[in-house]
Amino acid sequence: MRSQADQQLCCQNIALSGEELETLWWRRRHCCTHTATLLYLLSLLGFLAFLVHQAWLPKLSGISWWRGYPVVYGDTVLHAANTKWNTSAVHSVWRFANVPQPSFTADANISSSERHSTSFHPRDMSFKNNLTASTSQSQEGALNATLTHGPFPYIINEPDKCAENQLAPFLVLLIATEARQVEARNAIRQTWGNETVFPSLVFIRLFLLGKKEGELGLLQQKMLEAESRRHHDIIQQDFLDSYKNLTIKTLMGMNWVAMHCPKASYVMKTDSDMFVNTEYLIYKLLRPDLKPKKNYFTGNNMRGFAPNRNQNSKWYMSPELYPGDKYPTFCSGTGYVFSGDLATKIYRTSLSIRHLHLEDVYVGICLAKLQIEPTPPPNGFLFNHWRVSYSSCKYSHLITSHGFHPNELLKYWHHLQSNKHNACINTFKERTGRVHSTRMNRDKQAHLLKH
Ligand SMILES: *[C@@H]1O[C@H](CO)[C@@H](O)[C@H](O)[C@H]1NC(C)=O
Ligand SMILES: *[C@@H]1O[C@H](CO)[C@@H](O)[C@H](O)[C@H]1NC(C)=O
Ligand SMILES: *[C@@H]1O[C@H](CO)[C@@H](O)[C@H](O)[C@H]1NC(C)=O
Ligand SMILES: *[C@@H]1O[C@H](CO)[C@@H](O)[C@H](O)[C@H]1NC(C)=O
Ligand SMILES: *[C@@H]1O[C@H](CO)[C@@H](O)[C@H](O)[C@H]1NC(C)=O
Ligand SMILES: *[C@@H]1O[C@H](CO)[C@@H](O)[C@H](O)[C@H]1NC(C)=O
Repeated sequence: MRSQADQQLCCQNIALSGEELETLWWRRRHCCTHTATLLYLLSLLGFLAFLVHQAWLPKLSGISWWRGYPVVYGDTVLHAANTKWNTSAVHSVWRFANVPQPSFTADANISSSERHSTSFHPRDMSFKNNLTASTSQSQEGALNATLTHGPFPYIINEPDKCAENQLAPFLVLLIATEARQVEARNAIRQTWGNETVFPSLVFIRLFLLGKKEGELGLLQQKMLEAESRRHHDIIQQDFLDSYKNLTIKTLMGMNWVAMHCPKASYVMKTDSDMFVNTEYLIYKLLRPDLKPKKNYFTGNNMRGFAPNRNQNSKWYMSPELYPGDKYPTFCSGTGYVFSGDLATKIYRTSLSIRHLHLEDVYVGICLAKLQIEPTPPPNGFLFNHWRVSYSSCKYSHLITSHGFHPNELLKYWHHLQSNKHNACINTFKERTGRVHSTRMNRDKQAHLLKH
């Protein structure tokens, strides 16, 4: 869904230090394939190879390894860690000073007098959201109020899909898609979204859609309604289906789980151009044999990222919308997984936080307000927001890979199914002498270069 548009968008002024490997990976999705970038990447590679050799790369992931290193991101030079607004600044120029703990704010529209008097304390997660909430539904404290479907009515809903089963679902898949992506939906139904491949547990698939305008939109709507009658896996609300409204789409999915399936053990939000190894996700990561976790959120952790202030970027974030110099930790929107209880919590929290168009960042802000820190996945190779080159061995050990045409998805999926039990036999030889994780990291680098 996003990849092609993504490829065309470019960023300027990217300068990266070697430590910002994670930044790079993130930018693979959120940015650039510019030739200038390529040069940086090439020079990086040497350093990466060194890192890998030192075998301390794995240790870097997860923990706050970036702390203390300057980040140059977009046009803004800042200290990635431990920054704080200079609250005595007279002009609207925001300055940075070091404080012992990271802090951030999502205050989007506070008066200048407040701005001057506001001090941000370490760990101060109190957002002045009641001043800026964009949903009229609830100003604040609606945490005990009855949930409603939100500001946008359902056009297509599947209110009984969850209740139809005797058991509460183990996993609900929420897949963001657009009306025209019929092929992608069909491919997902036949592959990783097939609800019947795991007979011992309940697994639900839902496609999330908004509405398109115009005559084409009307035509697509007719077809979508027919598709819905056939598959009963579509939910749609009456908002304009656009990239900038992805946040609304995601919240619709959370709202659906909260209202119609609050007992689901886990939920995954992903996109329609993804490869998702649902089997690995269910049996290796989430594990139906264990007691379902609470307040659990995982995916490709984006830690310490700064808002993109380059106005030409798709990921531009205006200082008015988000004045903070750093986002809270969030998980790439290409695929994140959370415990069912969080659907309600995130949705309710969102009622008092002004919407930002970057869906994954926004969910991260909701989590920060809930004081829930995303859990790093057991290894950095599970959730990929770039495309990992296919091999049955790699694909049987990852959860997400990004950027698939429906035909490729079918092809690789079937190959993987038929080689499931000897997925890594053919690659064993080439692997001897190398550490497993080293190999995987090299794959990642190879990908950075390819795109
Ligand atoms: C804050 O800004 C003021 C005015 O620009 C400056 O004089 C002061 O040194 C700054 N304080 C810090 C801690 O950076
Ligand atoms: C900020 O608040 C003021 C006064 O409440 C309002 O006029 C203005 O439109 C708001 N700006 C934004 C960006 O919401
Ligand atoms: C916003 O929150 C503050 C403190 O929580 C409260 O005093 C104020 O009345 C609230 N304003 C609105 C408009 O809800
Ligand atoms: C909200 O609900 C919880 C548990 O259901 C309860 O403990 C709490 O007192 C309620 N708060 C308000 C403001 O009604
Ligand atoms: C889903 O998987 C089942 C069992 O493997 C298979 O019989 C069915 O045809 C699949 N459904 C689709 C839509 O491919
Ligand atoms: C998001 O959807 C709303 C409701 O349909 C619409 O008014 C708004 O223009 C949309 N925003 C964007 C940026 O597409």
